[in-house]
Amino acid sequence: MSRAIEIAPSILPADFARLGEECVDLEKAGADRIHWDVMDGVFVPNITVGPDVVASIRSHLTIHFEAHLMVMKPDEIAPLYIEAGCSTVMVHAEACTHLHRSLDNIRKLGGRSGVVLNPHTPANVVAHVLDVTDHILVMTVNPGFGGQKYIPLLDKIADLKAMVDASGNEIDIEIDGGISAETIGECAAAGANVFVSGSALFRYDDKAEGVAELKSIAEAAR
Ligand code: DX5
Ligand code: ZN
Repeated sequence: MSRAIEIAPSILPADFARLGEECVDLEKAGADRIHWDVMDGVFVPNITVGPDVVASIRSHLTIHFEAHLMVMKPDEIAPLYIEAGCSTVMVHAEACTHLHRSLDNIRKLGGRSGVVLNPHTPANVVAHVLDVTDHILVMTVNPGFGGQKYIPLLDKIADLKAMVDASGNEIDIEIDGGISAETIGECAAAGANVFVSGSALFRYDDKAEGVAELKSIAEAAR
């Protein structure tokens, strides 16, 4: 049974002066999740929102919040975003000395555990953590900024899908970076089911149309 196609808008392109309203509008437009891009200025050369910002917006929406932690100390930071209302918390494999423990701890705190792979990181990095993983995020840009050029990694996505299927575990595969009407189809065909979209989605005058179009292209492609 294939896993549901979901669209997770990134908050990066939002007007931060109206961030709460923008998130409410994304929910009204049919977004399945809000993708919180958390950056500490060290793991990536950019800084974004803290847990208090997420917590202040949590009660205004009902959809799933997911935190993409682009931080050097994920074990310290992850609990803060679970507390703030993120159901899924994703840590970069590249920032974890003990990835299995980091993922297991997220689960122990009540969150869904996610592992993020930068473009250069091979799929087999997750081979021995699938038993403590609920979500895999594949970066198709180098993290730190929205609006970057998409890096095709279809073999990697297909390899991850094969590993997940062989494991028998229920794991979402999400793609993050440069996802648009032009790129989402090939990623869905390769095996992904959740899609972050930032700049491409925010280019639509009507975000509901954007969410619907991205979803229908992904559905048709797989
Ligand atoms: C980049 C972030 C992505 C990015 C996606 O570090 O993790 O979520 O904001 O933005 P677009 O869709 O514009 O590539
Ligand atoms: Zn992200």
